[in-house]
Amino acid sequence: MSHVQDLSELAQEARAALQGLTAEEAVEAFRVRYLGRKGLVTQRLKELGALPEEKRREAGRLLNVLKQELEEAIRKRQGDFRQGRAERPVSMDLTLPGILPARGRLHPLTQTIRRLEGIFISLGFEVVSGPEIETEYYNFEALNIPLDHPSREAFDTFYLDEKYLLRSQTSTVQIRVMESRKPPLAIVAPGRVFRPDATDATHSFMFHQVEGLLVGERITFADLKGTLELFCRRLFGPRLKFRFRPSFFPFTEPSAEVDISCFSCRQKGCRVCSGTGWLEILGAGMVDPNVFEAVGYDPEGVQGFAFGVGVERLAMLLYGVEDIRLFFENDLRFLRQF
Ligand code: PHE
Repeated sequence: MSHVQDLSELAQEARAALQGLTAEEAVEAFRVRYLGRKGLVTQRLKELGALPEEKRREAGRLLNVLKQELEEAIRKRQGDFRQGRAERPVSMDLTLPGILPARGRLHPLTQTIRRLEGIFISLGFEVVSGPEIETEYYNFEALNIPLDHPSREAFDTFYLDEKYLLRSQTSTVQIRVMESRKPPLAIVAPGRVFRPDATDATHSFMFHQVEGLLVGERITFADLKGTLELFCRRLFGPRLKFRFRPSFFPFTEPSAEVDISCFSCRQKGCRVCSGTGWLEILGAGMVDPNVFEAVGYDPEGVQGFAFGVGVERLAMLLYGVEDIRLFFENDLRFLRQF
């Protein structure tokens, strides 16, 4: 094969390859293959010196023509790609639906607490909070709970050490608020409480209460009844019946437990009310004079009422939840329903 023939084949091959350059990277690969330091054309140019005089001149001319042709073709292709990149219109369809961000929601217990707060705020109560780690003084002594009271036993309260415990009721906040303010006052205090109960469908070692306290002059049991009835009607509907059962709490006197007529069966008796027609909703009473004395209020000068509501119990009734553990398992299939 003559050298000239060989060169024209190389040129043909290169021109054919030029047609197939559809990507910018391919252009660079092409350049390296033919014009790179060890490229096919470069190699031939280096070998020119070994050729006899007459062949060298013709081959040299052909090679330089090919080299220029390829260089120009490469420049043009590169230019095309760069321009194409710069001018390619950004295609976007403004009518496409957007990507919805995942939207969270409030936990059903938080929703319940907010509902209760809303009702009491509308009645002029203020929302306050207190610590979950407490001393025996705030959890028991100041609340008139004597040393030999069963709730002070280790199996009824989580003691952390000699000094501290996890509060077993939000009534602690009554003391903290009265210590730091003068009457009149009206507060509700939602929060967590802890009791070493065995866990089952209606018991959890941690649950929530909302405490209420109102102190002022000439406050009577009628004020307590009116407030709680209004609260329950707002929550469960206007046609409820009430039952105030005499009860006992060391920090209230007299004390009562409040039942509402079962809204589920209208007192015919059902599973929700265990066939009794009544639902126990909360504990309440008139603030015991000993409690006023503990916080430095004059028991002769002021009266007050207090109440405590179990949030989980209310939420279970309101939403028809049958197992308290569902609130704490973080199962989205449950939580998404609220
Ligand atoms: N602290 C009481 C309990 O946990 C509830 C209560 C609060 C009762 C305020 C009377 C007054 O059972």
